[in-house]
Amino acid sequence: MENLQAKANKGTVLVTGGAGYIGSHTCVALLKQGYDIVVVDNFVNSSPVSLERVTKITDKTFPWYRVDLRNREQLSEIFAKHHIDWVIHFAALKAVGESVAQPLRYYENNLNATLSLLAVMDAHDCHKIVFSSSATVYGNPERLPLTEDCRLHTTNPYGTTKLMIEDILRDLCAADKQWTAVILRYFNPVGAHPSGLIGENPQGIPNNLTPYIAQVLTGKLPFLQVFGDDYDTSDGTGVRDYIHVCDLADGHLQAIAKIKTAGAHVYNLGTGHGYSVLEVLHAFERAAGREIPYQIKPRRAGDVAACYADPSRAEHDLGWHAQYSLDDMARDLWRFYTQNPHGYEEK
Ligand code: NAD
Ligand code: WQD
Repeated sequence: MENLQAKANKGTVLVTGGAGYIGSHTCVALLKQGYDIVVVDNFVNSSPVSLERVTKITDKTFPWYRVDLRNREQLSEIFAKHHIDWVIHFAALKAVGESVAQPLRYYENNLNATLSLLAVMDAHDCHKIVFSSSATVYGNPERLPLTEDCRLHTTNPYGTTKLMIEDILRDLCAADKQWTAVILRYFNPVGAHPSGLIGENPQGIPNNLTPYIAQVLTGKLPFLQVFGDDYDTSDGTGVRDYIHVCDLADGHLQAIAKIKTAGAHVYNLGTGHGYSVLEVLHAFERAAGREIPYQIKPRRAGDVAACYADPSRAEHDLGWHAQYSLDDMARDLWRFYTQNPHGYEEK
């Protein structure tokens, strides 16, 4: 399970949830840029196969541990064994609907995992963390495009865990000047690594738009349900800021490279462009070379008409902006599905 390698100059990043969708892409980016990494994941929503694929893409091995972050003793052993310069904290449960049905499970996992991590980091004199937040903390957008100082409020327990953890990090940085916390608010991550080796591992019927479209294309689902065509948007369907997962991964590297001052720093990671459901559907039609059947259905409860970022703070401070287009996202996601029809399971 463990495979130590020589320490590179850039330092060592502990990646929690590193086997997951965004985590695995960030592991690739870190290794390619010459960082050493250590991964901690309990695989509640992922597979160790994704870590094997990270090695296949980068030709680099790294230590990884099947550990639940809430287990402080085991986490502490990892910090004792490796000198960690930065932590990137992806590990969380993330399904909005599930969080409404099982709020305690979400609060228990996401909050306790983070509190345990912060305590263990402190005990080992590691005080630099990047945290995966979400545009969900803007709730029903106060105005568009969303800037980081827009009003924060949440509409479901998952979102509330994100906002609570942001507050914990802000309080911690205010109380103890040793801490640096970079809070990254992701908009709608889609796509996959261009190799087609890693991507979002499809499990069950997806809630999110692009995995759903991909399953219609593979024939697992008969048609896309378009939730509402009477919004005040260009074609009446919902508009979101879709961002390629590799652009998102790069945002983390820029944060680690550029943030030199202690305190809490907040950035939107989005493209700044909104696309409607039908525009996304047509991008996938171009990628796959065929039509995608769809039916207009009523609006989905809790959805907003439009949500997109003003990413200019990240551009200014981190020198980061998204590079990939919507067609790139569709092409790369479709490649991953074509190459891995059963996800990471071999069937
Ligand atoms: P993911 O489920 O693919 O990855 C999360 C990983 O964390 C999984 O590998 C899971 O096994 C692990 N994990 C969960 N609880 C754990 C625990 N207690 N101990 C150890 N490991 C644990 O999700 P993702 O899409 O890669 O999301 C990564 C982060 O980004 C999450 O915090 C998520 O809330 C946030 N985020 C995701 C999106 C999105 O749409 N994908 C959008 C905004 C924010
Ligand atoms: C996008 C658009 C739907 C499915 C969610 C979370 C958010 C964040 C990202 C973690 C909307 C429409 C969808 C379908 C459809 N995750 N749609 N048919 O709701 O913007 O954001 O994922 O932090 O917190 O809430 O993403 O992909 O579910 O929906 O018409 O089968 O596609 O109505 O307009 P959303 P989504």
